[in-house]
Formats: sequence, structure tokens, C-alpha cells
Amino acid sequence: MAEPVAIVGGGAIGQLMAGLLAQQGIEAVIIGRPGSHNEVRAHQLTTLEGERFHHKVRHLTPDALPPSQALLVTTKAYQAQEAATPLLSKVTGDTPIVLLHNGLGPQQTLARDFPEHNWWAGTLTDGALRQGQGAVKHTGLGQRFAGSLRHRGPLPEALAAIGFERDDNIELRLWHKLAVNALINPLTALHRCPNGELTQARYLPTLTRLSDELARVAASQGVPMEAQEILALGLKVAEATAQNRSSMLSDVEAGRPTEIEAISGFVVALADDAGIEVPTHRDNLDRVRALRPS
Ligand code: PAF
Repeated sequence: MAEPVAIVGGGAIGQLMAGLLAQQGIEAVIIGRPGSHNEVRAHQLTTLEGERFHHKVRHLTPDALPPSQALLVTTKAYQAQEAATPLLSKVTGDTPIVLLHNGLGPQQTLARDFPEHNWWAGTLTDGALRQGQGAVKHTGLGQRFAGSLRHRGPLPEALAAIGFERDDNIELRLWHKLAVNALINPLTALHRCPNGELTQARYLPTLTRLSDELARVAASQGVPMEAQEILALGLKVAEATAQNRSSMLSDVEAGRPTEIEAISGFVVALADDAGIEVPTHRDNLDRVRALRPS
């Protein structure tokens, strides 16, 4: 029997991945936190067409990770390193480990610190909503891309089976996603507004400054992203997801930590190293940090 795909992080995206894999006849196991239980749970995926797909998922502790054809890390950015590192001794150097969180930083750190592993990074724009224990609703069909950070092997079969495309310049795609997140997420969290509100004229000066500053930081890293392109991308996504509450706003409203360190924090850290002024990103970073639950 084929090895399962292990999913670390049982949030909406992790559950969506498990459901999509099960629909393709590929077993997904969800790896919980240390101290969780090994058990089989009933899951339900409500498809884009509104059909309910029922399947069973083995939930396992990190210690019980079985030999797996791939490891998908679907945690938040700030949990990725802590979640992935203890599993590394249990997977072979060939096993693709796919990091799917927002922002940048953990991907580079993990690939640098554990060069013997087969690191991949990916990004997807699907919408998914948790609807209670084990139930997830697929709310928007997105694009799914993954690329190798190290070994340049073929796209893992399980990812291809659920619609991922291989991107040999995944870093640039991750920078584009970072740009979208750096423009939309902090402002929606600070102003407690849906994404679409940022298309109002009063936000344009701030979005323009964020784009200019980010373009300079990107250029310092050899990443070709023009300020105009960043602004246009941010506005396009804000419009396309106008009704959405960003993940950062949802985190703030739920009293959870946010991904601000892997988004604005990443931009500010690179800017500091390169001696570039990024006052608008720094302001976002400071203000979102200040929202952190005490
Ligand atoms: O983090 C998010 O919320 C999403 O990445 C995006 C694209 C900003 C849409 O809400």
C-alpha cells in the first residue's frame, strides 16, 4: 500500500489538503502536537459544489509519524520551525517537506539549517473555512504552486494529484505573496476591516509607501519587483477578496498570535541589514505587535 501524506497542522488548509488527497484515494494523516492522541477521526469536506465528502483521518502524535511519501507543513509561519524540526529525525533525506505558510523566513532558515532534507515551499490561494471539529468548507478555488528549495527533484506525486503546479522560481512567487500579505494583512488587522476596504482612496498613500519601500528591499535581495507592480498586485487581491477578513485580522480577533514577524518583520529585518529605511512597514510591525494578546 502507498505511504500516506503526513500533514502537520490541522487548521483549515491542513484539513482541505487532507480532504483533497482523500478524494484522490491518497491517505492523509494529521500530525498533532506532542501530548495529543493517536486516533481515527471522521472528517468532512464541503466541496466547491456544495457536496459533502466524508472520510476518515488518522490523527497521530509526532512520535507516531509513519513512513510518508511527503510531509506538508500547513501551520502558521511562527509555528513551522517548531512543528517541523522534531519530525526531521523520522523522515528520510528524500522525503519532500513542503512548507505552505504565509510570509518568508522560516523556509530559508529551515533549508539552511537542515540542508540534508528535501525542502519545498508552496503557496496556494484557495479559500477554506473550518466549520467545527473535522469539518472544512472549500470556499474558493485557487492556484497552487510548489517549488524545490534544495534538491530540484520532480513535483511530489501527491501534490500533482491535488492540483499543485511546479514552479521553478518559487522564491519569486513567495515574494509576490509576501507583497500581497505585507500590503493587506497589517492594515486590515489595524483597521479591523475586510480586504476590499483597502481599495478606498484614503488607503492609497499608505499602500504606495509600503510598495515603494518593499520594492527597494526586494531590489537589495536581487528580487525583481517594481513598486507599481506590488501596488497593482495588492489592490487586485484586495478587490478579488473584497469580502474576506484577512488571516491576520482573524488571528487578532480570535486573540491568536499573528504572522506579522514573517511578513512585516521579514521586510524590516532585511531592510535593517541593507541599511534601507522602511518606516511604513516598521510602523505596521510595531502596531500589530502591540495588538498581541498579553
Ligand atoms: O492571509 C490572507 O488573508 C491571504 O493570504 C490574503 C491573500 C491576504 C487574502 O485574505
